[in-house]
Amino acid sequence: MDIQIHTDTQMPLRIVRIHDAAEGIRSFHLQQSDGTELPPFSPGSHVKVQVPNGMLRKYSLCNDPSDRHQYVITVKRDGHGRGGSISLFDEAREGDVLPTSIPDNAFPLVDNAKGYLFIAGGIGITPILSMIRSFGELPPAPWKLVYLTHSPETTAFLDELSTPELKKQVRVHHTHGDSANEFDLWTALERPLPGTHVYCCGPRRLMDEVRDMTGHWSPHQIHFESFAEGGQKRPEDKPFTVTLARSERRFEVPVGKTILEVLREHGGNAPSSCESGTCGTCRTKLLEGEADHRDMVLLPEEMAGQIMICVSRAKSDELVLDL
Ligand code: FES
Repeated sequence: MDIQIHTDTQMPLRIVRIHDAAEGIRSFHLQQSDGTELPPFSPGSHVKVQVPNGMLRKYSLCNDPSDRHQYVITVKRDGHGRGGSISLFDEAREGDVLPTSIPDNAFPLVDNAKGYLFIAGGIGITPILSMIRSFGELPPAPWKLVYLTHSPETTAFLDELSTPELKKQVRVHHTHGDSANEFDLWTALERPLPGTHVYCCGPRRLMDEVRDMTGHWSPHQIHFESFAEGGQKRPEDKPFTVTLARSERRFEVPVGKTILEVLREHGGNAPSSCESGTCGTCRTKLLEGEADHRDMVLLPEEMAGQIMICVSRAKSDELVLDL
């Protein structure tokens, strides 16, 4: 199989603290067992954690990167996900060891921006919080945060982001489940701001909205990170066959697994980073078949001939990939 083997270096990190960050949201503090420094990370980084049920899941680091002795992940218990967050919530205990990758960054903060506009939806606050925390008291440029959540009870880090000092920079908006109460992002995005970079992380619907509203911005100013567990299941999902043209190998991709996961199970692995359809690392040439595109990267004109194999599936019974 002509695809790259990619193995994450895993560290056995101990959970030294678990605490609730909001309703259904919990923080896990991970450290080396001997308390030594961890590999450095930059704002927006994530780690892959092997949760107690054996699944490998990606979580953003939300602590300040200058905090070298711990990685802090904050996780929402997703009852509709594929079980990673449920396992972490229900089975992980303080003192347990979780195999954890060295940090990777598919959502890096540019350091020469003239301004930053952060848009977070729900648990999407985590990489953005690491960015804001990294600024400390001397941010490199003016910044603002729009933080959209369901209610105060489900808002992680609400106290930290609601201080009087941050009043002019942070807007926290709760919908209370009422679509008539959605925040109007157009007021913030209508006029492109030269040199300002927009960072958006949250549910797919929010990112679609921001992408639609920033079509008139320069693409290099807009950055997305997703928190889907490698592609959420949808009712229309069906199994399909993926054929690797170069090796002529064929695999079945069942419901609940991504093409990338199936390739890994068979001993190979394409390069990947975000594994949520936002970074473009797993871009693969599609030779035959009709893809069901679920990424945030491809332009409409690219969709017939390319696919992001970390999230996208098939509308046809078979996809032939240039692998
Ligand atoms: Fe980032 Fe697939 S790994 S888009």
